[in-house]
Amino acid sequence: MTVSMDSHNTMPAVVISPRAARRLADGFLWVYSNEIEGRDDPGAPVYWCRFMREGRTLATGYFNRHSLIAGRAVAWGEAHDLKPLLEDRLVSAFTRRLTLENGSSARIVFSEADLLPGLVVDFFPPFAVLQSSTAGMDLILPLLEASVPELIERVFRKTLQGLVLRCDSAVRRLEAVDMFRRVVFGDSAAMMRAEVAEDGVRYAADLVAGQKTGFFLDQRENRRRLAAFVRGIPSGRVLDLFCYSGGWGLRALKEGVRHVTFVDESRDALDLVKSGLAANGIDPERAELHHGDVFDFLARQQELYDAVVSDPPAFVKSRKNLPQAIKAYQKLIRMAWRRLKPGGMLFVCSCSHHLSESEFLNLLAEAVAKEHGLAHLVYRGGQSQDHPVLLSMPETSYLKCLGVRKLAAA
Ligand SMILES: C[S@@+](CC[C@H](N)C(=O)[O-])C[C@H]1O[C@@H](n2cnc3c(N)ncnc32)[C@H](O)[C@@H]1O
Repeated sequence: MTVSMDSHNTMPAVVISPRAARRLADGFLWVYSNEIEGRDDPGAPVYWCRFMREGRTLATGYFNRHSLIAGRAVAWGEAHDLKPLLEDRLVSAFTRRLTLENGSSARIVFSEADLLPGLVVDFFPPFAVLQSSTAGMDLILPLLEASVPELIERVFRKTLQGLVLRCDSAVRRLEAVDMFRRVVFGDSAAMMRAEVAEDGVRYAADLVAGQKTGFFLDQRENRRRLAAFVRGIPSGRVLDLFCYSGGWGLRALKEGVRHVTFVDESRDALDLVKSGLAANGIDPERAELHHGDVFDFLARQQELYDAVVSDPPAFVKSRKNLPQAIKAYQKLIRMAWRRLKPGGMLFVCSCSHHLSESEFLNLLAEAVAKEHGLAHLVYRGGQSQDHPVLLSMPETSYLKCLGVRKLAAA
């Protein structure tokens, strides 16, 4: 089913509870399935709708009968025409990025934080990747596929040469929608061998079949902190754990560090690192690429490093498995800590919303204490600015990066 773009005819009504109505008014965009009190049934499980309470339209958004997050609001009040509403949202989101990165690679739409729940758009000039994670956003894909290139041209003054649709993230299972990916237009081969520039470093990226949207843009500002640290240790050695395309390690090499060891269990990821080394003209002798499990690697490794970065996938999938995930983070941090020289820096990251920064800090402190270590906390970072946090929706905050310096034992 596609939704009518010209919805002069009124959208179906979804009646929500007083609590959901209050939260909506406070800027929380989700309505849970147990907060739905009644609804029109247009015959489809997913549809764009008006969220109502006591005969008043509170918001416009979409409804999915199969999802626990049954409703997501896109605008407050009634929208008579979806196309101008969505285009206004896109233009506002794009414009907010203009001052950030001066038109270089950036996340130009970040879902709920940009009041476009379920939609991500990453811009890797001259290509873009559009990711829908909800059934409601899927309904308006034809509109988005047409508008995004046009509005990128208008706002960034750049002609898009290719657009990839990535509807393949695991969260789609919660929405009961299939996973798929599609090249909307452009040269697939070129987009599978794309190059992403960040602060002068050239990274290889597969925008069609690589992880997520092809590159982890959210660590940009944290990598800058590593860059600042390694500038002071030109003869240093860095260990990049869970390296993917080498976001951290290539940055360190480009800053002049002597050697980086990259570790990832994905061969495709290590191939991207190899291409990144070549793209930046870095002598391959300055890098070691280790294919395998990080825990196994750390268990066998004897070498000490000046900086260790640990950027694993989310260990906490839900609040329920938090205790188990905390144990896994602590094990990882303790093993990484043992590979660090005195004076060295350890950067540890967690990309799970379910683990708060203070919980992460506590588990880090505990892990260091269990190693009888002493450390200064010298850096607290989060997701880069093109992934803004909507204050009324803490769910939009997910990435934490803590940097500690190892002190020689007292
Ligand atoms: C969040 S991504 C890392 C992003 C990367 N650091 C960057 O800045 O672009 C997590 C990476 O960990 C890898 N991975 C997941 N589990 C692993 C494991 N147990 N051992 C080694 N690599 C693993 C995945 O293949 C993926 O490349």
